[in-house]
Amino acid sequence: MKSWDWKIINKDYLRRTIERCKQRHIILPTFQQLKHPNTISYELQQKLEKIDINELHPLNLFRIHWCNDLETGRCGKINYIEIPREITGINARIIGLIGKHFPTGAHKVGATYGCLAPYLVTGRFNPDYHKAVWPSTGNYCRGGVFNSNLLSVHSVAILPEEMSQERFTWLKERGAEVYATPGCESNVKEIYDKCHELEAKSDEYLIFNQFDQFGNAIWHYEITGYTLETLFHQIKAPGERLSAYVSATGSAGTIAASDYLRIKFPLIRVLASEALQCPTLLMNGFGGHRIEGIGDKHVPWIHNVKNLDFVCAINDEYTLRVLRLFNEPAGIEFLRKSGLPDETLQNLSLLGISSICNLLSGIKLSKYYEYSQNDIIFTIFTDSVELYRSRLKEMKEMWGEYTIQQAEIDWHSIVKNQGIDYIKELSYYDKKAIHNLKYFTWVEQQGKNVEELNAQWYDNSYWEERFSIVPIWDRLIEDFNSKVLES
Ligand SMILES: Cc1ncc(COP(=O)(O)O)c(C=O)c1O
Repeated sequence: MKSWDWKIINKDYLRRTIERCKQRHIILPTFQQLKHPNTISYELQQKLEKIDINELHPLNLFRIHWCNDLETGRCGKINYIEIPREITGINARIIGLIGKHFPTGAHKVGATYGCLAPYLVTGRFNPDYHKAVWPSTGNYCRGGVFNSNLLSVHSVAILPEEMSQERFTWLKERGAEVYATPGCESNVKEIYDKCHELEAKSDEYLIFNQFDQFGNAIWHYEITGYTLETLFHQIKAPGERLSAYVSATGSAGTIAASDYLRIKFPLIRVLASEALQCPTLLMNGFGGHRIEGIGDKHVPWIHNVKNLDFVCAINDEYTLRVLRLFNEPAGIEFLRKSGLPDETLQNLSLLGISSICNLLSGIKLSKYYEYSQNDIIFTIFTDSVELYRSRLKEMKEMWGEYTIQQAEIDWHSIVKNQGIDYIKELSYYDKKAIHNLKYFTWVEQQGKNVEELNAQWYDNSYWEERFSIVPIWDRLIEDFNSKVLES
């Protein structure tokens, strides 16, 4: 069964899922609604006003988009921030969508919905039997557990033991079966091994593998891509152009927004970044690193590498030092000297560690191309400092109290001083070399077939076909909802 072949495969599972949703009053949002959240009905938005964004309430499924207004509880304008030039030190504008304003405080919940919803409406998941397994190094398992909870489905989270304590606590509090696998951020192979072990133990474990499930990329293509296009038209001043999209890649879902943007803005440059300590795309490198959520020592199956123009690597030490600069009182005091208002400075806490990696990558690209004030770089601020408070504490214990002098050093030596080292503009054959790396993970280890691998490279319709599935999914979702609402 091909993963993009969305026929109803088990009518009994589908019937049970509809029954489950009926009992729990669960209606699924269509992708169209998440893309255009202002089309979510007035009545439903009124209900949302009374529901906290992190509450395990099924209506929160209607908040899996970029436009949550936290004050009113309804959907509002696109959530984004621009990092001022006083901070970036470059001419180009760097603007990022805000992941913190999703349920769970991270954008990954979107990818999990993109993977789960098609399974539910095509009868691939039996809620009375299956356990939804969310293998992840980052926030994907948080999103998966959140969505599973909303649907009253048993969930299983698999993540490396060195991930932040906040993640483990959060998952356990929500009743997930949690497995900690050996290693850190870049130990994805160990996560796969655990998945295989569970699958061998029982067929009740159903793996939602974000690295090979197209629902992940498709969610970003359809919703993140469209949201960025809309934002560009809202914020651009005369003469400005959308020059680049930057995404630090983990499962390569977020970067799929660039496949959408490429159609709308053909000249856009797309950059994938990773940790210098694990530069797999840049130099076939490997290693452990501390940028949680990215850089997993392999090329995800769902990554359309032909659409990539640049790769760059950022030292994980820099991202952690900038996390301190943006969040410690002495850091903010130093940045205040530039004359920026408090509100702007407070917004810096909206950047988690991989968001800072995105910011530094954008600065690098801007230096490489000598971008002017007419160039706009879009990126994603995937999650916020809220998920890394324990990291700040650890750094204070290790390195001592953060001071204004240290803030000055960090800003000058890291942010202002980003250069064009460890950044590579990809030729056709550089891209092909990255694509070919998929062979070793996916064909040799994970049982994919080489014909499909070749189709990803040689057959343009391969990607077009996947990225155009959404109207079919939406029809299935509408059908599903109407059966749930039948008395
Ligand atoms: C914090 C964070 N940043 C970045 C990413 C990378 O996003 P993607 O997996 O869509 O490439 C993730 C993925 O889990 C993440 O959790």
